[in-house]
Amino acid sequence: MDKNIAVIRGDGIGPEIVEQALNVLDKVAELYGHTFTYTDVDMGGCAIDKWGDPLPERELQKCLASHSVLLGAVGGPKWNDVPGAMRPEKGLLRLRAAMGVYSNNRPAKIWPQLADASPLKKSIVDQGIDFIIVRELIGGIYFGEHKTEGDTATDVLKYSESEIERIGRIGFETAQKRSKKLCSVEKSNVLDSSRLWKKVMHRLAKEYPDVELTDMLVDNCAMQIVKDPAQFDVVVTENMFGDILSDEASQITGSIGMIPSSSLGATTCGLYEPIHGSAPDIAGKDLANPVGTILSAAMMLRFSFDMPREADAIENAVSAYLDAGYRTADIMSQGMTQVGCRQCGQLIIDNLRKE
Ligand code: IPM
Ligand code: MG
Repeated sequence: MDKNIAVIRGDGIGPEIVEQALNVLDKVAELYGHTFTYTDVDMGGCAIDKWGDPLPERELQKCLASHSVLLGAVGGPKWNDVPGAMRPEKGLLRLRAAMGVYSNNRPAKIWPQLADASPLKKSIVDQGIDFIIVRELIGGIYFGEHKTEGDTATDVLKYSESEIERIGRIGFETAQKRSKKLCSVEKSNVLDSSRLWKKVMHRLAKEYPDVELTDMLVDNCAMQIVKDPAQFDVVVTENMFGDILSDEASQITGSIGMIPSSSLGATTCGLYEPIHGSAPDIAGKDLANPVGTILSAAMMLRFSFDMPREADAIENAVSAYLDAGYRTADIMSQGMTQVGCRQCGQLIIDNLRKE
């Protein structure tokens, strides 16, 4: 198959991790007889420096014209003083909204090889950590009005029933494909938007009688994730709660550097990115972990290109690389061999086999 991928290298460690993911994709193309064409897109701080805009319209159009978008990371201290509407992150938010990718899927799964890298007690890790956070991505407080007047700042958190319903359905459908347990997370003891969220989820539940729906307040969920993560299978939540909980969930699996994500809307054109940031402190030092981006590329193959065997091949290659005892600095432990970003990518390629 021929696929055109829009590639956003972005800022900080973005370029180096994306480079490794593209090398892996090239190897997959060679093994399976596909052609992947890459179109470079400027977004984030680098686009501000070059074009004075975190996502110029022309760059956005390249993404909308692609079969899917692969993104490294954007942002960094260099652009901290840029006004809100022109921050690097604004490019990412504009892209998500323009692509209509309302459904963000963030797996929190511990690799057996990395059980020691989890900060949780072994007795908790041994219960198993394998759940998915389905995060609403283009609504809520991220997209409400933001304003500062004098000494007062306001951010509006707003959800309509239809916005909740479409992400709710993804939550139920994801649960149907797994253990049929869905946990809806909100703050309905305080927020109107959360009370509406809960009401819509329970209305939808009648259409999915095979799925067991539970409700959890977000503060309790933050606690339960470290206390008893094995209780979760699919969590569905609004934009900002999902942002916070997915960082927390990633950390109990060992490293945020390992976690990929997919964002999809009404079409198969998706946005694929690791959930970590641009880590400017280690940028350009060949220290970053490219696995989150490499696994994001695997998700692209699985969810947007209908290439499940190719996606399996990448995931198996990552597993074989870990089995062989190689670790980037973020997950390094005693007795393992430390590798840099480039060597990590190369070792994963060396382990790629046609399934
Ligand atoms: C994420 C990031 C982004 C978000 C930032 C960079 C805008 O933290 O993808 O989780 O908050 O959504
Ligand atoms: Mg985040």
